[in-house]
Amino acid sequence: MRMLITGGCGFIGSAFVRLALDAGHEVVNLDRLTYAGNPANVAEVAADPRYSFVHADIADPGAVAEAIRGCEVVVNFAAESHVDRSILDPGAFIHTDVVGTAVLLAAARQAGVERFLQVSTDEVYGSIETGAFCESDPIDPSSPYSASKAGGDLQVLAAHRTYAQDVVITRGSNTFGPRQYPEKLIPLFVTNALEGRELPVYGDGLQVRDWIHAEDHCTGIWCALIKGTAGAVYNVGGGNEVPNLQITRRILELTGADPGLVRHVTDRPGHDRRYALDTTRLRALGWAPARDFDEALAATVDWYRDHPDWWRPIKSGEYRAYYEAQYGAR
Ligand code: NAD
Ligand code: TYD
Repeated sequence: MRMLITGGCGFIGSAFVRLALDAGHEVVNLDRLTYAGNPANVAEVAADPRYSFVHADIADPGAVAEAIRGCEVVVNFAAESHVDRSILDPGAFIHTDVVGTAVLLAAARQAGVERFLQVSTDEVYGSIETGAFCESDPIDPSSPYSASKAGGDLQVLAAHRTYAQDVVITRGSNTFGPRQYPEKLIPLFVTNALEGRELPVYGDGLQVRDWIHAEDHCTGIWCALIKGTAGAVYNVGGGNEVPNLQITRRILELTGADPGLVRHVTDRPGHDRRYALDTTRLRALGWAPARDFDEALAATVDWYRDHPDWWRPIKSGEYRAYYEAQYGAR
């Protein structure tokens, strides 16, 4: 297959680019290279003759129409992806996650693309106190990020109903692993711990997320892409429900950092208490996550310890201004 993968210079998208090339496919990676897009994430495949890169915005119809030509499938990873940034600047999220998704969908129809896979998130369901969300549950997003992703999902589902477009949506849970921009919980706390900086825990730290390793998330997306039913949604969750404070303690152990670095700070507004996913539907297609959470977390800590050249340059410049805006007055 020739695949258009958007956001392939980001954290999960770059892992999926590697997976697709390893499986023998051709990849066109279209990425705007925002603060989160990093060419180093795909450096090892850049010279592969089956790989090409297009520096463009998914909301630019002309650039997308050109890049999509000859592609059989589209996998849309491109997004503004961080909840805290969405609270500071929702407009960028509407531009990429809603408008960009609609532009890509229209281009895929125009070009006769056989399948459009939208990479979405469990956050569109909102928070759940007990049990786990099924794909048939209503969406009830809490943050500007999850509301924008929900807007993208609704565009995708409407395209199936209105135009009979072949679409599939995956809703992944909180993802971790190498090459994740150090603004989300795990890479932020690991790199802060390695630098001897504070670990800012929001509120009581007893919020729960369902963690999945990036490689397991990618095999889930791959399974839904190849075997999923047109018009269907598939939850992709690791089944690892861990409170934030427990992850924080484990990171301190794994890095050998001083437990006194933990600082409880003002909670995030609209903070979802718990996420949990029922993955029966995707497992029925033969998928299961392969990674043990604790081993995968330890391997992730090792990766950050071994690759300061990847994250140290990021944690300067624009990042420092963001960090001050986000945590300075907390
Ligand atoms: P990321 O922030 O690491 O990467 C996003 C990529 O998209 C970057 O390379 C960026 O340059 C690119 N991009 C942003 N706006 C663009 C635009 N307008 N046009 C073209 N490219 C653009 O994100 P990630 O964590 O790898 O997440 C990838 C996808 O997975 C997103 O759709 C996200 O909503 C979803 N998701 C992420 C998680 C998670 O925990 N990280 C969990 C579930 C779902
Ligand atoms: P995050 O990685 O931002 O993912 P999401 O908000 O999309 O689930 O946050 C994961 C959890 O960690 C969430 O409950 C918020 C919390 N958190 C902190 O306590 N401190 C932080 O500095 C960050 C970034 C997150």
